[in-house]
Amino acid sequence: MTIVFRLKGFEQDCFEIRYAAGVLMRGGLVAFPTETVYGLGALVWDEGAVSKIFQVKGRPSDNPLIVHVSSIEMVEKVASRIPEDAYKLMEKAWPGPLTIVLPKSERVPRIVTAGLDTVAVRMPSHPVALSLIRETGEPVAAPSANPSGKPSPTSGTHVVRDLIGRVEVILDAGETLYGVESTVVNIVTEPPVLLRPGAIPVEEVEKILGRKILIPEFAKGLGQVEKPLAPGMKYRHYAPEAKLVLVEPSSYTRECLKALAEYIKTQALAGSDGKPCILATLETLQHYSGVGAETFTLGSRENPFEIARNLFTILRKVDEEECSIVYAEGFPDQGLGLTIMNRLRKAASEKHLINC
Ligand code: TXA
Ligand code: MG
Repeated sequence: MTIVFRLKGFEQDCFEIRYAAGVLMRGGLVAFPTETVYGLGALVWDEGAVSKIFQVKGRPSDNPLIVHVSSIEMVEKVASRIPEDAYKLMEKAWPGPLTIVLPKSERVPRIVTAGLDTVAVRMPSHPVALSLIRETGEPVAAPSANPSGKPSPTSGTHVVRDLIGRVEVILDAGETLYGVESTVVNIVTEPPVLLRPGAIPVEEVEKILGRKILIPEFAKGLGQVEKPLAPGMKYRHYAPEAKLVLVEPSSYTRECLKALAEYIKTQALAGSDGKPCILATLETLQHYSGVGAETFTLGSRENPFEIARNLFTILRKVDEEECSIVYAEGFPDQGLGLTIMNRLRKAASEKHLINC
């Protein structure tokens, strides 16, 4: 049985948080909101509980989990060494959507890190997540609370739909702030490497570190991962049931955006069976009138925060609306654009490039 708590006027040490912390301490699973997406948590030291996370999600066992903490002391429990750079990042970017990969302490069960000798750690800023970890008093291992391969849950409703009956507690605090997962950076390597672009732009992380971070092709959502630096990266992700076709223009001038929309329009009109849908932006919306495809607006290109925030919600909506093929426009690979493109490229089963 799953207990769903709806948290509206949230209080730090309310009954719901104490109950959920108790469940974690007794080896149960708790889905909880963070400022990025919802997580599915277990006590980090409890191998049995962590293995239940993999089962419930249908997650491959070689994809490690992020360990969530509420204090630097907790980081010291799970990491064997904390480099100077890590302290800089923790001080400036925590609590917040940055995950730092550190050398792992012996104490962390191998199942959590999928056998790697590193551990990914983050301190979420969502008050519910923070008080849950504080109340538990121990780090909480938690991947995103979606079945493996599906878009991450950005609202309590998504989690209830996916996990009801499969976990002990769901803490529903409505929609999340960023709607996209944390940025993952490995600082054990020289230079540091971006493993997953996320809610905090990599440029901001570089500014804090005062040096460049290597951005491999797989972090852009391109190419294949030979050596699994970030094991999760080798799987198809975030995909709706519908087939997603990503169309990238060679530049993002007004003329090019028009050409992009024209191309998508032609493809959508020519499509044979099923229902075509389009993921548009405010800037291109007017070009799609009269195409006979359902059009969803991600937001304005001037506001990539809004686009990133709406992306997973809309990827779920296209399935609810029974779209069979979805055309998505590309975005420039900078700032949050890199994050958006990583998710779109991973979700896409076809990619088209147009010269304009
Ligand atoms: O925003 C987020 O990060 C959310 C919330 C719940 O905190 N969590 C999340 O977890 O997105 P998950 O499991 O869906 O993604 C974790 C990513 C995976 O790509 C995994 O491969 C990578 O982090 N990762 C975890 N531990 C790692 C490690 N030791 N080395 C390299 N990559 C690691
Ligand atoms: Mg995930």
